[in-house]
Amino acid sequence: MEKKYLFSPGPTMLPPEILLKMAEPIMHHREPEFERIFAEIREGLKYLFQTKNEVLTFTSSGTGAMEGAVSNILSTGDKAIVVRGGKFGERWGEICKAYKIEFIPVDVEWGKAVDPKKIEEILRSDPTVRAVYTQASETSTGVRHPIREIAEVVKRFENAAIVVDGITGIGVFDIPMDTWGLDVVVSGSQKALMLPPGLSFVALSDKAWKFVERSNLPKYYFDFKKELKNTKKNQSSYTPAVSLFVALRESLRMIEKEGREAVFYRHERLAEATRQAAKALGLELYAPDFPSNALTAVKFPTGIDGERLKALFFEKFGITVAEGQEQAKGKIIRIAHLGYYDRLDMIMVISALEMLLKEMGHKFELGAGVRAAEEVLML
Ligand SMILES: Cc1ncc(COP(=O)(O)O)c(C=O)c1O
Repeated sequence: MEKKYLFSPGPTMLPPEILLKMAEPIMHHREPEFERIFAEIREGLKYLFQTKNEVLTFTSSGTGAMEGAVSNILSTGDKAIVVRGGKFGERWGEICKAYKIEFIPVDVEWGKAVDPKKIEEILRSDPTVRAVYTQASETSTGVRHPIREIAEVVKRFENAAIVVDGITGIGVFDIPMDTWGLDVVVSGSQKALMLPPGLSFVALSDKAWKFVERSNLPKYYFDFKKELKNTKKNQSSYTPAVSLFVALRESLRMIEKEGREAVFYRHERLAEATRQAAKALGLELYAPDFPSNALTAVKFPTGIDGERLKALFFEKFGITVAEGQEQAKGKIIRIAHLGYYDRLDMIMVISALEMLLKEMGHKFELGAGVRAAEEVLML
């Protein structure tokens, strides 16, 4: 018998409650029943994003909402700051380029977090900057950027907005949108929301909605104004992924039942256990100083072939972990713990890691990682 396990930072594993919802007969999206589900989703998303404003839902992967966060916020001639500390930071730059938006990159060494002072310097010297694009959690490196501190800086510039890719941040750790004064926050379904890929989310502050009013960049499907109007009527502008919406209501119910704070705490412990286990096995963390609680990026010890390790995870244990991307390719594996994961899930993946490393000749005491994780998880 072979079971399959996803420990990749999206898609993530799904709870049976969600799987069952998606197996229900499909309903029509203009029926009153769907509108009732939609209304509940609107409230659940406000709770999750910690905002009083509407959260828009699009049928697309997360990148769709990211694109919308450029095409709806900026106008011709506007400049942007893009924090580039990994593959997803680079994506903000690529989207700006596609819309002919000039951007000033703040390049950050992979594995490190951005220094908000760098952003402040640029904002001070260039009053034409209208938006700062960053990640809350940079999934390609496992770094958590200091969003609260960046927001403190951006807040002082009336004509600039902070746009946060919270795709592996929302529902993982605390990102209180309204309290911190974040202007745009984006997320996606296949991460902490415990859903399959296919939905993206975006929430906007009152300040960001003013940017939307004046934005003149081309847009059609990801038209935030149009979507807001329909959202308020419990409708989506076009045919939504109906089954995913039904499942979304269930996942939001699950999150509310567990409680936002409890969800954050669970992620914190799973992440800490994984980090301690890696260290106990003599492995180095790729993002030791500012780790995200969504995933743990671990460097391979010398002499260990990373691609082979990833392949063996799947061959021997049916476990999918993620490898490094671009410049981190062949250097790290990324073990996810966001969404539907509990303590014993982490013990399992750490135990598999130990067995594989032992087989590949890495020197450590068998059980050291599991033990370190248990010490965190027993608390
Ligand atoms: C931080 C971050 N941003 C953006 C994306 C892109 O999302 P999608 O693949 O859903 O378009 C991902 C996906 O892994 C991500 O982790």
